[in-house]
Amino acid sequence: MLPALDGVVEKLEDGIEVADVGCGYGHSTIIMAKAFPNSRFHGFDYHQESIDEARELAIEEGLSDRVRFDVASAKDFPDRQYGLICYFDCLHDMGDPVGATKHARQVLSKDGSVMLVEPFAGDHVQDNINPVGRMYYAASTTLCCAHSMSEEVGLALGAQAGEAQLAEVFHEAAFSYFNRAAETPFNLIVQARH
Ligand SMILES: C[S@@+](CC[C@H](N)C(=O)[O-])C[C@H]1O[C@@H](n2cnc3c(N)ncnc32)[C@H](O)[C@@H]1O
Repeated sequence: MLPALDGVVEKLEDGIEVADVGCGYGHSTIIMAKAFPNSRFHGFDYHQESIDEARELAIEEGLSDRVRFDVASAKDFPDRQYGLICYFDCLHDMGDPVGATKHARQVLSKDGSVMLVEPFAGDHVQDNINPVGRMYYAASTTLCCAHSMSEEVGLALGAQAGEAQLAEVFHEAAFSYFNRAAETPFNLIVQARH
């Protein structure tokens, strides 16, 4: 997915700070760290047990020198003026995705990018009545929306938010650039910049 973003791979090769927000067990953080040895990777999740697992994985993979995992919410992870901030399948789970992306904008370097990876969805329910969309709606109702509603704001974007609603989140957070970089039957990949 990263090569689909404009100018990001070159920066990763040169060496930048990367935040993987809502990283869970940190598999995405580890995969990126292996591919880009000159960059430093910071995985954040507010779930302590996930971060414990992620730390063990980094040790097993021999990457502890440039991969760090810390417990932090999407709205208060530390400012390192990141060249890349990633959300893999997690922004829609958050109660306050606008608050999260506002924070991301503050801690993103001037020429940095946000990579948003979300479940693929069209903008209208009728676009998503297919096997993949039905599966996502079921999971979203029982897991994603329920989780979002348990956090402050409780926006409940859901796993079938679609590009237009996601763009609105970034617009409210004052991002001026929001572009669909790629799509697969399962994922929508977006690049956002200041
Ligand atoms: C569906 S999982 C995705 C995990 C990982 N990114 C992946 O692709 O495997 C969503 C993650 O978002 C995290 N999360 C939810 N709300 C959060 C918040 N407000 N701040 C930080 N992490 C959050 C959860 O703890 C969970 O690990």
